[in-house]
Amino acid sequence: MNKKGCFITFEGADGCGKTTQSELVQKYLEEFGRKTLWTREPGGAALGKELRKILLHYDGYVAPECEAFLFLADRAQHVETVIKPAVNNGIIVLCDRYTDSTAAYQGYGKGIDLTRINYLNDLATGKFYPDLTLVFDVDSEVAQKRVGAEKDRLESEGMEFHKKVRYGYLELAQIYPYRIKVINANNPIEKVFEDTKKVIDEFLNH
Ligand code: TMP
Repeated sequence: MNKKGCFITFEGADGCGKTTQSELVQKYLEEFGRKTLWTREPGGAALGKELRKILLHYDGYVAPECEAFLFLADRAQHVETVIKPAVNNGIIVLCDRYTDSTAAYQGYGKGIDLTRINYLNDLATGKFYPDLTLVFDVDSEVAQKRVGAEKDRLESEGMEFHKKVRYGYLELAQIYPYRIKVINANNPIEKVFEDTKKVIDEFLNH
């Protein structure tokens, strides 16, 4: 494995298992002596922790554009104060959700025009995009069962919404095939991790 810092994101619908996989990847890379930083959105920076509470638990109506701007505000702070400095210090940053979540949820899911989402993501990140993105794809029914009965604000959106999010991710993978790799997350955790490792190894060794 070479020793440069890089930026890898983990994406997928709620209940896809990406958080578990990203934590397994962190352990795996650290066993090879690689320096990693695990972080997430929303809430990866101190200020974003407050935004996360609002975004996931505010119990009134939230307009889609308001929701998008809050995620983007969180991202702008996160990328500038956490992600970029770490990558520039030679660290492999593993981030649970990033720009593709806004495209999938607020774009495909809530109907905000994708051109606008792309523009806003460019603005929030200064065009700092991941080197590699793993999308964990799982049947929406299976994913919803995994989420369980205690749902946060976005998890509580109906099945139609979650299906749009899922297909949004699959379409994004077709638009950006050089960056986004899809992993079948219907499989058991061990098999999903085998597939995940293959993609990570190929990327870090190329
Ligand atoms: P998490 O539990 O995976 O961190 O979930 C955060 C929730 O926020 C999840 O339902 C997806 C949603 N989300 C968006 O809708 N847009 C975004 O840009 C991000 C980062 C997350």
